[in-house]
Amino acid sequence: MFGANLRYKISKKLRDMSKIGLFFGPEKGSVHRVAEKLAAAIGEDKVEMVSVNDASYSDIDKFDKIIFGISTVGKETWDSEYSNTDWSKFFPEVSKADYDGKVVALFGLGDHVTYPDHFVNAMGRLAKELAKKDAKIVGSVDPDDYEFEESEALIDGKFVGLPLDEDFDPELTDERISNWLKSIQAEFGF
Ligand SMILES: Cc1cc2nc3c(=O)[nH]c(=O)nc-3n(C[C@H](O)[C@H](O)[C@H](O)COP(=O)(O)O)c2cc1C
Repeated sequence: MFGANLRYKISKKLRDMSKIGLFFGPEKGSVHRVAEKLAAAIGEDKVEMVSVNDASYSDIDKFDKIIFGISTVGKETWDSEYSNTDWSKFFPEVSKADYDGKVVALFGLGDHVTYPDHFVNAMGRLAKELAKKDAKIVGSVDPDDYEFEESEALIDGKFVGLPLDEDFDPELTDERISNWLKSIQAEFGF
């Protein structure tokens, strides 16, 4: 009844929908390493890794379950109009996607020792863009387990996603990931 091409497109869409889209950037660094840890913990077969460097809003539209990973490297760096890679390029795409019926979770890399007043701010900025689109965000984290002064990622008294500090708290990463995955497991169905 359907042509081969259409059948392929439908099956590809169904396959993508059943997977978790794990959007990460930058291409190399802590976010990427943590994204690989998350994929391994969830199960490689349940996750599709997507580098934000190569992605657009249509890639977000392919998934019902989405995890975004972002680092804070200073506002001037990551959303500068002169920069055209990774999150600086992808950030405007986030608000073009449709989040109806989707579930979203965030993790953010930061450094709580050098930047205690701006800890994982980029995760907060991303969450605010998603909130404007009425995206359902799960996986908030209690800030009591972290040392920092201020963060734009605090929403209603909680971190809107999972903060990780590979620079000064790398030994805590695995346990933080494991606890966080338990907290989103039911919503993400893995
Ligand atoms: C130029 C620069 C600015 C940074 N600014 C912040 C910041 O404002 N807040 C924060 O929590 N971490 C900040 N960091 C720390 C990074 O977020 C951290 O090193 C992170 O692990 C980088 O991940 P990536 O290698 O995947 O980009 C900054 C790092 C650099 C190099």
